[in-house]
Amino acid sequence: MTTDSTSLREAFIKNKLRTHHCGQLRKSDIGSRVTLMGWVHHRRDHGGVIFIDLRDREGLTQIVFNPEINKETHIAAEQFRNEYVLYVEGVVNPRPADALNPKLPTGEIEIMVDFVRLLNPSKPLPFPLDEITPVTEEMRLTYRYLDLRRDYMTSIMKTRHRVTHAIRNYLNSEGFLEIETPLLTKSTPEGARDYLVPSRVHPGNFYALPQSPQILKQILMVGGMEKYFQICRCFRDEDLRADRQPEFTQVDMEMSFATQEEVYRITEGVIASAFKAGINLELERPFPRMTYKEAMDLYGCDKPDLRFGLELFDATDTLNNSNFKIFNETIAEGGIIKGLTYAGGAEFSRKELDDLTAFVGNYGSKGLAWFKVNPDGMQSPIAKFFTVQQLDQLRSKAGANEGDIIFLICAKKITVNTALSALRNHLARIGNLIAKDVFKFLWIDEFPLFSYNDEEKRFESEHHPFTAPLPEDIDKLDSDPASVRSSSYDLVLNGTELGSGSVRIHHYGLQEKIFRLLNLNEETIKQQFGFFLDALQFGAPPHAGIAPGLDRMIMLMLDLPSIRDVIAFPKTQKASCLMSKSPSPVSEDQLRELQLRVKLTK
Ligand code: AMO
Repeated sequence: MTTDSTSLREAFIKNKLRTHHCGQLRKSDIGSRVTLMGWVHHRRDHGGVIFIDLRDREGLTQIVFNPEINKETHIAAEQFRNEYVLYVEGVVNPRPADALNPKLPTGEIEIMVDFVRLLNPSKPLPFPLDEITPVTEEMRLTYRYLDLRRDYMTSIMKTRHRVTHAIRNYLNSEGFLEIETPLLTKSTPEGARDYLVPSRVHPGNFYALPQSPQILKQILMVGGMEKYFQICRCFRDEDLRADRQPEFTQVDMEMSFATQEEVYRITEGVIASAFKAGINLELERPFPRMTYKEAMDLYGCDKPDLRFGLELFDATDTLNNSNFKIFNETIAEGGIIKGLTYAGGAEFSRKELDDLTAFVGNYGSKGLAWFKVNPDGMQSPIAKFFTVQQLDQLRSKAGANEGDIIFLICAKKITVNTALSALRNHLARIGNLIAKDVFKFLWIDEFPLFSYNDEEKRFESEHHPFTAPLPEDIDKLDSDPASVRSSSYDLVLNGTELGSGSVRIHHYGLQEKIFRLLNLNEETIKQQFGFFLDALQFGAPPHAGIAPGLDRMIMLMLDLPSIRDVIAFPKTQKASCLMSKSPSPVSEDQLRELQLRVKLTK
């Protein structure tokens, strides 16, 4: 097979465009003369007549090469193979009754080809593009350009486009300006490591790729832009998971003179327009709300999945002062007892219960107590340590019925919440309790302003250091920083953090104080945030903002297993691109220009 570059040129010299795309032609087009271009999706040789499904981004059309109609095109078609790129002209014909394909939008017609040009051949494919054959992710990412041709990926890319477009339209209608901020910039603390870029002009100095445009969007508010958004790229060198990429996209927003309530309204508008455009779903608004404390009490975590129940209850008071020493001692040391009830769980076998105990062990719990509610009373290896009255109270607190099982964990509060929250999600998964095609949004607010880093013996920002304390807690900043709540909020969807934001500090003095409470010394404050503190002193307006993750939103909207499926060129769990083989070493010349030498330390 020769690469027919002459005819390629010939076709394009004629400057012909496609008259239709491959998903477009219908019965009403019968008799029209059309020009199509696309890839050979599938080719069948039916003893003389050759049928090809020609594919482009929009679909498939059957094209027919019949030697009785045109000998020359038929001879050409004998050589066409999968993924060859064709230019065809022909007439739209009805398909014979026995060849109608109701599954295909173009299934009532076919094109009788009388002119064909091979625009480009293709090597045999490393994997078929048939949506059926299982393909490893490694292959998909190595040949991403082939993977993208599959309907699965094409339709995700189309959804992503519709969503971004709708978000832009919505924010434009609300008076937002789309403004780009630099990628070569200074570190923005969002809790991850920075990706650094060496400067040639300033040898030994580095830009940091933004973990988010946080500081710059706040400075845009100082700059009087009032309502800003950007569909922006963020870079974070952190451990990767199914919902995390080193390079990802946020719908970043900031508003001057806006309250938390206004941020909620706008964000709900963004999300609603995205879901409408993405999957034609009208979302119910306003989204439900909960404080951090309520979420921790009821679900043991700050991003509860509300597609199922399994709420937690506190049994510390109920089961304190029993004959069970372990509980008494743990409570005396400040521990708590919390639990959850699993309907029908009295059926669990000993082996299943051992597995669940091992499961919570992964989350730091030393044990998992259980009580089966049997017809003849509560059955548990530890039932004998409690009075009948205590067991009755437990059962009523747990809301447990006959046939159910009550699980309890007694430990430090943080361990109890972490382990029970994981158990809750696990039981929902194995028990098939997670409602399908349901989107449970939830706002969480009143987070703690700081968390305490036990290893480094210092406070860290729970959100980021620009988050304002809740006004009613400000006077506890010096006396009891750990108890100060913040004016930050997260938007949770089906148990995943979709977005995060806050009312910002807009007073220089308070911002400086927060930096100091975070144990930053004067030198660091000046070097890292001097320009920002300067800006706050020139009439910074009150402002607030948020940044939902776009990739996560589309992943959840389409119920996809991985964030990598919504990104055209994602990185692997090890942060590499299998297609371009990056990261990769650079040449000595490049290093010399940067005045750098690579010497790897262990
Ligand atoms: P935050 O760090 O919480 O807030 O990020 C906001 C949202 O961005 C998404 N996200 C990610 N998505 C994919 N891969 C990652 N590695 C990743 N990290 C974060 C999540 C998350 O909820 N500047 C603040 C926002 C603000 O205060 O306005 C910020 O970046 O969906």
